[in-house]
Amino acid sequence: MLEIEPNSVALSFWSPPYFVGKDYEKEETFESWQSLLRQVIHNHYQILKPGGFLVINIADILCFKDKYMPRIQALNISNQKCKVTREMVLEARQKHPDYNRYELASLLGCSEQTIDRRLNGNNIRGGKYQVQTRVKLVGNYIEKYAYEVGIYLYDKRVWVKDPSWVNSQWTSNTLKAVNEYEDLYIFWKPGEYVIDRRKLSKDEWKSWGSRGLWYINSVRVNDDHEAKFPEELASRVIRLFSEENDLILDPFMGSGTTAVAAIKHNRNYIGIEKEAKYVKLAKKRIRELSSFQLELNLV
Ligand SMILES: C[S@@+](CC[C@H](N)C(=O)[O-])C[C@H]1O[C@@H](n2cnc3c(N)ncnc32)[C@H](O)[C@@H]1O
Repeated sequence: MLEIEPNSVALSFWSPPYFVGKDYEKEETFESWQSLLRQVIHNHYQILKPGGFLVINIADILCFKDKYMPRIQALNISNQKCKVTREMVLEARQKHPDYNRYELASLLGCSEQTIDRRLNGNNIRGGKYQVQTRVKLVGNYIEKYAYEVGIYLYDKRVWVKDPSWVNSQWTSNTLKAVNEYEDLYIFWKPGEYVIDRRKLSKDEWKSWGSRGLWYINSVRVNDDHEAKFPEELASRVIRLFSEENDLILDPFMGSGTTAVAAIKHNRNYIGIEKEAKYVKLAKKRIRELSSFQLELNLV
């Protein structure tokens, strides 16, 4: 990143690894993930133009493993196939204090695991010795890293995407929501910036330019990159936070979506990506778009 000319980038828009176990982040520990984000955000101070923007698309970690978390799961009574309740087990145990759980099971006509679950509430997803998970907020980390180098949180928007029903099994075993939104943190490097209301139509300002919630469908199943963001998301960010001919950066380029949106809106771009297969994919998308545009110009 530091090879990029100082004070040259008008907008940096990216989505980093989320620390949720994707293939390309398997090597990361929570600590190395934090240092990666911190370093990349710090590097922005040198390369962003004064008045430039840094927009980060990220989500909280919904299943953050915590080995210190007590292993207690809610009693899911709607899922219970066996009608024996905790109260029935307690009553039977009171009447027969000398019975072990096998004897209680045969008395009540259920399995000994049911007795154990009703008494100890240890019906944990993945087994009772499985490390439990909690929610980890990430906005506070990136806000802190930016603030450390004098880049300020300017605004925040929420991308409302398709609900991820992959989690529905988990959702029906907890009171948690399905995963259906991500955040956009908009940071600003102090300096003058231009407000030109003519850059969007009146309808665009009303429907998304001035709105906090952006409803955009996720990229449906694709087999070339496991975490693409939609081109519409990149287009909106680019149109709102940069001008024609500006330089746009994506240091986690993946399949090249930011570059594609930048080209379509007459911006220049720089992309950085560590996986060779994604570099190849991004180059292919850019090449195809450029030859399509060339053909359009020739027609
Ligand atoms: C969430 S994906 C970005 C997807 C991209 N926005 C798109 O639409 O295709 C994050 C990308 O960052 C890449 N990545 C992870 N660590 C990196 C690093 N240290 N340097 C550069 N790229 C990295 C991953 O390979 C992955 O392609």
